[in-house]
Amino acid sequence: MSLKSGIHQLRLTNFRSYSFLNMDLSSSFEPVILTGHNGAGKTNILEAISFLTPGKGLRSARLSDVSKRDSDSFLIEKDVKVLPARWGVSAKVQSFGNETQIGTGTVDGSERRQVRIDGKNTSKQSDLSRYFKCLWLTPAQDRLFCGDPQSRRRFLDRLVQAFDEMHAQRLSEYNTIFKQWSCLLREGRFDDRWLSGLEEQLVAVGVAIAASRLDVIDRMKAHLSQPVSEVFPTAEIILTGTLEQELLEKSAIQVEESFLDKLKRSRKIYADGGSISGPHTADFKVIHSQKRMDASLCSTGEQKALLLSIILAEMNTQMQEQGLCPLLLLDEAIAHLDVRRRHILFDVLVDLPAQVWMTGIETESFNYLGGRAQFFDVQESNLSLQNVA
Ligand SMILES: Nc1ncnc2c1ncn2[C@@H]1O[C@H](COP(=O)(O)OP(=O)(O)OP(=O)(O)O)[C@@H](O)[C@H]1O
Ligand SMILES: [Mg+2]
Repeated sequence: MSLKSGIHQLRLTNFRSYSFLNMDLSSSFEPVILTGHNGAGKTNILEAISFLTPGKGLRSARLSDVSKRDSDSFLIEKDVKVLPARWGVSAKVQSFGNETQIGTGTVDGSERRQVRIDGKNTSKQSDLSRYFKCLWLTPAQDRLFCGDPQSRRRFLDRLVQAFDEMHAQRLSEYNTIFKQWSCLLREGRFDDRWLSGLEEQLVAVGVAIAASRLDVIDRMKAHLSQPVSEVFPTAEIILTGTLEQELLEKSAIQVEESFLDKLKRSRKIYADGGSISGPHTADFKVIHSQKRMDASLCSTGEQKALLLSIILAEMNTQMQEQGLCPLLLLDEAIAHLDVRRRHILFDVLVDLPAQVWMTGIETESFNYLGGRAQFFDVQESNLSLQNVA
């Protein structure tokens, strides 16, 4: 049996443009290539797979938006919105040589999703990480280094989440507490006991988030400095968040004390509409090591190559530390890459110990992988296996 990790079978129900889809895949887990015209349903499949990990999937979508809509299903009838149908994704996945059936979906058309592992329901999405991990790159990330810090933070936190099961939960706790703290101040309710309680929680969770981000980037360092090939750049990641920077120089207790002090001193400024830095404003920059240049100044193709180098470094670190390589979802995989880089990338991906899913418009762009990948033609949310020698 192959020790590669991957998906044997994928089923979607009421998922975006798919009423029902069943995909049977080869058990040797060669790369899966999905090609077809715009709107054919390629990214929807990658998004479905991304929901087999904790969080909001690769589009950061609201769960109710994922549910399949007919063109008239969201018409308002007698002032009552038609509830979105339940959607589901399930997969037979293989990791560490064992096969597990995992699934997720909405229960009642709400923003809650349920997880099922080998027929048993669990309320904890983080349980999925024991059986399945995946990372992704989407076209929206092609300008990550020049875009808004929020997208970069989301990218960073996905990297961290793949190592630290608790990270997603801590982020969600931090955001909930920060919202409560903000609301009290913006409504002028200076209840010292209440605010102090929230501040103590923010400090404990916030410093843990920053420490985890630093730890993961540190663990990836060795692989980040090894080039995938001479045409792929190596990347240096520098965390620029205030807490992350402080943790480089001070002990965690000292950082907790100074963050607590900052929160208390900022109450008035925040209530008057000011802002405060913390894990919720953290950012990072990437340096193209060979050129010693900030990634934001690199060309579009160079930026894409840097992103791929970072993702591959994460996969290799995971493989080395945990023996389990995450699956990789590359939406519009080869956009911006020249032919030489594409072919080098394909050779690297084929050898990875995990399945890679790639989308593109034209099958011809992937011909170099003929005989080494599973090709599917996607048309109007229907899939057919293609024979590409
Ligand atoms: N909730 C939904 N219900 C039904 N259809 C949806 C829903 N959400 C998105 N769609 C439709 O799914 C179709 C396929 O989208 P998808 O993003 O998978 O296309 P794609 O093949 O990746 O196209 P492109 O090459 O343009 O990226 C689109 O026409 C989109 O409008
Ligand atoms: Mg797409």
